[in-house]
Amino acid sequence: MLNVVVLVSGGGTNLQAIIDAVNDGTITNTRLTGVISNNQNAYALERAEMAGIPAFCVSPKNYDSRELFNEAFLNKIDELQPDLIVLAGFLVVIPKEMIEKYRNKIINIHPSLIPAFCGTGYYGLKVHEAALARGVKVVGATVHFVDEGTDTGPIILQKAVDVQNGDTPQVLQRRVMEEAEWKILPQAIDLIANGRVEVVNGKAVVAQ
Ligand code: GAR
Repeated sequence: MLNVVVLVSGGGTNLQAIIDAVNDGTITNTRLTGVISNNQNAYALERAEMAGIPAFCVSPKNYDSRELFNEAFLNKIDELQPDLIVLAGFLVVIPKEMIEKYRNKIINIHPSLIPAFCGTGYYGLKVHEAALARGVKVVGATVHFVDEGTDTGPIILQKAVDVQNGDTPQVLQRRVMEEAEWKILPQAIDLIANGRVEVVNGKAVVAQ
């Protein structure tokens, strides 16, 4: 069984997709052992509680320095002993120490086709605003391993989504979630839980 801890900051629709996929058997061989939010008011925490998953808030606001927060954050992760950490709309920079300790055991969902519209400053709605401003015709989502950079780690899965005339950032965000994120994030977890993803020479190889 793969013990998975999910990190969230907001609404938690990706967390919900993971919970649903574990419950309906789309994700196999996996146990959700904890959800951690940096934001006490995140609806994702309620989703976790409703699903009976231990839910915690570790907020930088409750610590005098970033170092103390990072230490508490890593302690909480270690306590939960995850085999895989999933960033599902988690908007806090992962401490370097955690990346080293959990190398190739942290994955992130990003709402664009990396390397487009990613890196510092590209998160949430901002990604879709930038895509519409550029006038691209195809957008999408990416699941990747987390390394020291921002959205630079090995890519596991990507899925494309068409832009339609008249799209607003909100409409496009919702379509990318429905057609891409809520599918490829559970799919990536299932692949990892079944030993079908490895990192070779800095690239993720997915057994088909
Ligand atoms: C999702 O669209 C996710 O891809 C994005 O935040 C949203 C969270 O929604 N993540 C990033 O932008 C990370 N750079 P959710 O809380 O409903 O899952």
